[in-house]
Amino acid sequence: MSSDKAFYLTTPIYYVNDAPHIGHAYTTVAGDVLTRWHRQRSESVWFLTGTDEHGQKVMRTAQANGTHPQEWADRLVESAWLPVLDTIDAANDDFIRTTQPRHTERVQRFLQRLKDAGDIYEGSYEGPYCVGCEEFKLPGDLLDGEGEFAGQKCCPVHSKPVETVSETNWFFRLSAYGDVLIKHYEDNPGAVRPQSAYNEVMSFLKTGLQDLSISRSTFDWGIPVPWDPSQVVYVWFDALLNYATAVGLDDPAGSEGAEKFANTWPADVHLVGKDILRFHAVIWPAMLMAAEVALPKCVYAHGWLLVGGEKMSKSKLTGIAPSQIVDHFGSDAFRYYFLKAIQFGQDGSFSWEDMSARYTADLANGLGNLASRSAAMVGKYCDGILPAPGDDTEAETHLHDLLKKTVETADAAVLELDFAAGINAVKEFIDAVNLYVTNQEPWKVAKSEDAESVARLHTILYTIADCLRAVAVMYHPVMPKATAELWSQLGAAAGLGDLAAQKVQDSAEWRVLPVGSIITKGEGLFPRLAEEPVA
Ligand code: ME8
Ligand code: MG
Repeated sequence: MSSDKAFYLTTPIYYVNDAPHIGHAYTTVAGDVLTRWHRQRSESVWFLTGTDEHGQKVMRTAQANGTHPQEWADRLVESAWLPVLDTIDAANDDFIRTTQPRHTERVQRFLQRLKDAGDIYEGSYEGPYCVGCEEFKLPGDLLDGEGEFAGQKCCPVHSKPVETVSETNWFFRLSAYGDVLIKHYEDNPGAVRPQSAYNEVMSFLKTGLQDLSISRSTFDWGIPVPWDPSQVVYVWFDALLNYATAVGLDDPAGSEGAEKFANTWPADVHLVGKDILRFHAVIWPAMLMAAEVALPKCVYAHGWLLVGGEKMSKSKLTGIAPSQIVDHFGSDAFRYYFLKAIQFGQDGSFSWEDMSARYTADLANGLGNLASRSAAMVGKYCDGILPAPGDDTEAETHLHDLLKKTVETADAAVLELDFAAGINAVKEFIDAVNLYVTNQEPWKVAKSEDAESVARLHTILYTIADCLRAVAVMYHPVMPKATAELWSQLGAAAGLGDLAAQKVQDSAEWRVLPVGSIITKGEGLFPRLAEEPVA
């Protein structure tokens, strides 16, 4: 492994059968916050997201809309999946589409390699298939249908009848990898997280694995099997490979792709929802083992956003578009809310009331108010020029100690994907600075003009501004826009440079914001909300 290997994080590649809802945005936001955090630790980072465009689900949607699947995919990617990245302010490094030649060519090469290694054979398959999941099901997975589906077997995720597939296909010898996977996860307990996901994967592995049909012959929307063009590659086999094809899987030695692969692979985190855990923690590593490619370091399965106790979904039409929330609250608040309100790894629901309450309390009244009070006081008492502080008293030393703890806690938490704990640590620091302002009463100190009082006033004003400097650095990965505005109001760029270049680990240093920085009041960081959400 080369020494400058990037921290490589992926999101699932999303189906283009429909536009994104906040469940998809949730995964991408979490990945974006984590990668921005790593970037701000001065690490080299690669953040991949993209779209999954083959398979029956996309094909049928295109047909139902009277168009070709490629045209449909192009339309959805251009009109919905790329724009949503702007809506939520995601800074991905790459966006892969499974219809791109860079992907299809490498998938074919990979498949041929598995065939040559003896891990692929021809066989016949008969069994239930859920097009919603694009998954072969075991009879034990299914539920008895109710109402209009009475008498039929239904997919527990989609509550719709499964179809019976009966075909001659190409099979992958998945069953050969059960024991080595168990051993791998015993040796690497952090490779599937959180613990609940690890347990699920282990107990599934212990029930034994069956070989997997990896091609289909009854439709043609997919990547042709290289040695048998009458078949297309099973959509999941195609899709999982995106993580590796996007960074140059199997490119010839010395090529740009080979260098990229050496500097990126293996992935550090595959971020997924728990709906697709087994594909990522069972099938995917087995495929990689078969090809003797290094395994990802971690598959992290987060929980679901629920609507009425069920997973929010495109197929059940319960999706809320990210723009519905972002148009009202802004992208920063969207990112902040979902990562702070839901313990990462667990399920959670969204409510306008809860989001409004947290926006007002934490952002408008908490951070926003602190920033505007600080700027107003430096404006009023020091003509907007950051004064030199005098000596620290116990109050300042206490804040500095708290800041050191905050940075340590937040850094450790975010690196463990405990976003709520990381954000909460910073929020508590902001509360402490607000309390400091209340207790120190700078407006009273300002009434006396003796040298001691003036020095004290300057210490207080400086301390508040420098604490805001640290908050801007720590919150930048979570709320890129508001913190950039804060950075500009603090006049920090002149002395410290770009906000994104500030190291998170160094943000606990004290008295960093240069004396003489020009502080301006500017727009409120978090504007008051219009009365009613536009639901
Ligand atoms: O499964 N709550 O794509 P998909 C939280 N193409 N996250 C949610 C969610 C919810 N209610 N709904 C969706 C696929 N997600 C495949 C993936 S990867 C090689 C192929 C998020 O469009 C979550 O990350 O159904 C989930 O795993 C993913 O979107 C599924 O997106
Ligand atoms: Mg899905």
